[in-house]
Amino acid sequence: MKRLTVPRIRARKKDGETETPLVMLTAYTARQAQLLDSHCDLLLVGDSLGQVIYGLPSTIPVTLRMMADHAAAVVRGSYHAVVVVDMPFGSYEESPQKAFESASFLLKESGAAAVKLEGGEAMAETVAFLSQRGIPVMGHVGLTPQAVNVLGGYAARGRSDAEADKIVGDAKALDEAGAFSIVIEGVVEPIAIAATQAVAAPTIGIGASAQCDGQVLVTEDMLGMFERVPRFVKKYGNIAETIEQTAQKYAQEVRERSFPTEDQTYQPK
Ligand code: KIV
Ligand code: NA
Repeated sequence: MKRLTVPRIRARKKDGETETPLVMLTAYTARQAQLLDSHCDLLLVGDSLGQVIYGLPSTIPVTLRMMADHAAAVVRGSYHAVVVVDMPFGSYEESPQKAFESASFLLKESGAAAVKLEGGEAMAETVAFLSQRGIPVMGHVGLTPQAVNVLGGYAARGRSDAEADKIVGDAKALDEAGAFSIVIEGVVEPIAIAATQAVAAPTIGIGASAQCDGQVLVTEDMLGMFERVPRFVKKYGNIAETIEQTAQKYAQEVRERSFPTEDQTYQPK
C-alpha cells in the first residue's frame, strides 16, 4: 500500500461534496500509529499530547522538540496515512517567516507530510506563505485550544451571530489562502455545516457535525483512557479498565510468587 498524499486528501471533496468522509485520529507513538494506520486517511500528531502524554494543564507549554520527536515516531510506525503535525503554541504566530522555520524543522526532523496550525483570518497570510513554499497546511478554527487564555475556557463556539460569522469567515480565509483541509472544533452544528459548505477544502469535524467532510478524535479519548472527556467524545472502548485490571492481576501474581512460572524463566540445560 502506497502512502496517501495531501493532494489526494484534498481531492476527496469535489464540487462541494465528499462521498466518503475522511477518517483522522491522533497518534503520538510508533506502536499506536501501527495499529491505527490502515484504518485512517490521516494521522494527526496533535499537541493534545501535552495533556494526554505529558500531563500538562493545556497545550500552551508544548515545544517543537516534543512535536518533532513524536511525529518521527508516528511516521516510523505508519506507511499508509498522511501524517500531519501540530505546530505548537509560540512557534508560528509571530510571522510567516517564523512559521516557515518552525514548520520546516518539524517536517525535516520527522518526515511528516504537513503541518496544522490554529487560527483563521489572522493566519491566512502564513498559510499562503507556507503552502506556496512546499509545506501543506491544515487549518483549525472554532474552539482553538491554544487560545484558551483568550477564550477563557473550552466552551463550544458560534452561539452568537458575531462568533458564528467569524468562524465561517475564518474558514473561508484559510480556504482562499490554500489550506488543504480545515479542522472545525467545538462549534454549534449549524455553523459547522455553514463553514463546511462555504469552503472548497474538506473540513474535519470534532464536536462539530456529521456533515463535515471528515471526523477526528483524540485516540485516547475514544479508546476510553480517561474518565472525564468533552461531550463531543464518544467512547468506543474502555482501555482504562483493561489496563487497571491487567495491572492488578500482574501485581497480585508477583505478590503471591505465581509469576514468573517455568514458561517465563530460563533453566540450565
Ligand atoms: O491536538 C489535537 O489533538 C487536535 C485535534 C483534536 C484536532 O488538534
Ligand atoms: Na491540536
